[in-house]
Amino acid sequence: MEIYTFLIIGLILCLIYFVKSKKAAPIVVSDIIIYPIKGCGSIHLKEGKIVENGLVEDRQWFIANDKLENITQRQNPKILGIQPRLIYNGEGQLTNMILSHEGMPDFSLEIKDLSDKETVNVGVWKCTVPLPSKDEGEAVGAWITEALKAPENYHLFRFVADWPINHRKEYQSTVSDEFKTMATDIAQFLVISEETYAECIRKLPEYKRDHIDIIAFRPNIMVKGAPRAFDEDWWENFKINDVNFQGIGRCSRCRVTTISQKTLEFDANGEPVSTLRKINGNGTKGYLGMHCVKTCCGTVRVGDQVQVVSRRKFPDI
Ligand SMILES: *[C@@H]1O[C@H](CO)[C@@H](O)[C@H](O)[C@H]1NC(C)=O
Ligand SMILES: *[C@@H]1O[C@H](CO)[C@@H](O)[C@H](O)[C@H]1NC(C)=O
Repeated sequence: MEIYTFLIIGLILCLIYFVKSKKAAPIVVSDIIIYPIKGCGSIHLKEGKIVENGLVEDRQWFIANDKLENITQRQNPKILGIQPRLIYNGEGQLTNMILSHEGMPDFSLEIKDLSDKETVNVGVWKCTVPLPSKDEGEAVGAWITEALKAPENYHLFRFVADWPINHRKEYQSTVSDEFKTMATDIAQFLVISEETYAECIRKLPEYKRDHIDIIAFRPNIMVKGAPRAFDEDWWENFKINDVNFQGIGRCSRCRVTTISQKTLEFDANGEPVSTLRKINGNGTKGYLGMHCVKTCCGTVRVGDQVQVVSRRKFPDI
């Protein structure tokens, strides 16, 4: 009799151990990244303050030409060579943005109140709404034009108004226009898991592996510990710290992600998009990352746990 009791207790202990070890490891935030000037260099943060339209200072600026047409990596991949740095005063107020570029002395842009300057509307690709913006002035524009040896005059614009998130026709049915963004293409945030990125690299042709950088995918929040690659494609509602996020659609990757972060040239074989079309797409579209909005404000930090609250299948857009 006793031997059976021992056996049963042993069995129960084994079962508890098994269930515990099977319980998923937590998903945590592994990196927070902003791109103050659209298309230019990235800034990694330990802590990111979330405001009404996304991470503070993410895509607050962008480059445009004299004709008020936005310049992105699509028109000029060299803009990626401009690296911004943000300087704050003791009160945490942004005072300067320092711009660096190889072969140029740094440029320090004083962050001034531009309220007395004229607001202009800058045209943006595929969007139904222009970008209401203000020119940061001649000097910084001239510096950027010279640094890039640009074929036309460039200007640095500061985005000054809210932009309804559903400015892109494809997303008009998936998200309400109560959400506002900065000069991002679609959503307030792009979330990517390390597991997804690792799988993408694993499947790439070998020559491309040395030319890929996560920055090419422009994530805002990287997470680690997802149970499988492309798990974030299913995240409908999730929480980081006290902030609630809502997935609005999988990110269909465009030609801009094929620019080598080393040579600043487009990949001749359209990688990594060609691979993504096969491993996480429908043949014509390839997806990597989840477009998200937040349903309340707060702060996210590297190391914060991610709690996936609900999942659903998102359509191909
Ligand atoms: C803005 O940039 C896109 C590329 O992202 C380009 O195709 C488009 O022509 C630009 N918009 C305007 C109005 O020039
Ligand atoms: C893949 O999805 C896109 C977006 O919905 C669609 O336009 C395209 O026709 C689809 N391709 C295939 C092969 O189903």
